[in-house]
Amino acid sequence: MSADLIIYNIGVLYTPYLKPPVRGHDMSKIKKINNAFIAIKDGLILDFGDHDYVHYISSSTIVFDAKKQIALPGLIDSHTHLVHAGTREEEYAKLRAGIPYLDILKAGGGILGTVEKTRNASFDDLYHHAFGSLSEMMLYGVTSVEAKSGYGLNLETEIKQLKVAQKIQDFHPVRLISTYMGAHAVPKEYLGHTKGYIEQLIEDMKVIKNENLAEAVDVFCETGVFSVEETKTILSSAKALGFSIKLHADEIDSLGGAGLGVDLGATSVDHLMAIRDEDIVKLSKSNTVANLLPGTSFYLNKGYAPARKMIDSNVIVSVSGDYNPGSCPTENFQFIMHLASNQLKMSPEEILNAVTINPAYHLGISDQVGSIEIGKEADIVLMDAPNLSYLLYHFGINHTKHVFIKGKLVVLNRQIVRES
Ligand code: NIG
Ligand code: FE
Repeated sequence: MSADLIIYNIGVLYTPYLKPPVRGHDMSKIKKINNAFIAIKDGLILDFGDHDYVHYISSSTIVFDAKKQIALPGLIDSHTHLVHAGTREEEYAKLRAGIPYLDILKAGGGILGTVEKTRNASFDDLYHHAFGSLSEMMLYGVTSVEAKSGYGLNLETEIKQLKVAQKIQDFHPVRLISTYMGAHAVPKEYLGHTKGYIEQLIEDMKVIKNENLAEAVDVFCETGVFSVEETKTILSSAKALGFSIKLHADEIDSLGGAGLGVDLGATSVDHLMAIRDEDIVKLSKSNTVANLLPGTSFYLNKGYAPARKMIDSNVIVSVSGDYNPGSCPTENFQFIMHLASNQLKMSPEEILNAVTINPAYHLGISDQVGSIEIGKEADIVLMDAPNLSYLLYHFGINHTKHVFIKGKLVVLNRQIVRES
């Protein structure tokens, strides 16, 4: 059979190969092939390896010289707050001066400041802002992104955010997976009436489900936001409606959100800087993924999640960006990977599993993407680096040179390829 495209002369191809979820010490296992090629047909991987590939070439096959660069599966950022209005640089000065993140929220700023701006923003403004950020992520090699709502905190604006994501999906090559996060904070009109807001949220989830606007529901389980009990109420309803569920858990205070997530069958529990030891044990006996967000620890100057302890305890770990205007304002996913190495003390192999197959697993897309495997979608990133370790060592710059999504070239020589 002839290929539509052959990427040849790959210096080293690196890919996860174990069936997901890849947990604990298995995370240090990856496949490494020198002098490799990848053959692609109809957007899918037809074959790859270091063997002969000439029989895949016909007169219509496009051949692409990787010039000895390394190839990885497209990177997957499984936790972002992609769609929002405005920025919060004025808050950065407060954070630097030592004012706690949760105090800023309590005073009506923080997330609530972005809610105000997002409610007032037009659909088009939200669309263009998010589209630009997504392109920026793609330039760093990200090919699938989870995008949360949660800056509306009323049905109208939450739907506006989710529809922006839906429209972006019609025009942007990066694969988007939407999450409804009406439980990101209690909006000002419900302050002191959390119970009433939760009742409203449960009604709103039914609309989101009927309109098929999100795959999952997420809750910010934190002191002064939603308690463990309130989180349980919201997520149990979400589950009963057929959503997959996840939580921002143990980010600042050790409330036990991670353990609750395991009990409820969450696909992931995210942040975990303040996770309790007993919840690490619970995670290790479950298929709930610990989704770590080291960029947030960096920006907020907080401690990092105990990744080593988790991996050594046989937990499934993924690493994500948490791109948002208040606690992690960056689209640079390779810097997040550097932090996973430098601060979470993860090895290059563990990090590769944590940014490809494991996030694909908890997002429910691991049959399609997350590794270079025959039959999977051809999401491939070529990096101008001699090896995987170098990528994590030479930090702060963008190593991505070319990106393919479903076998289509979307970034060429660090530039976005525009449809003609
Ligand atoms: O993941 N923790 C809650 N939500 C985001 C921050 C959102 C914001 O500050 O706007 C997070 O850190
Ligand atoms: Fe977040």
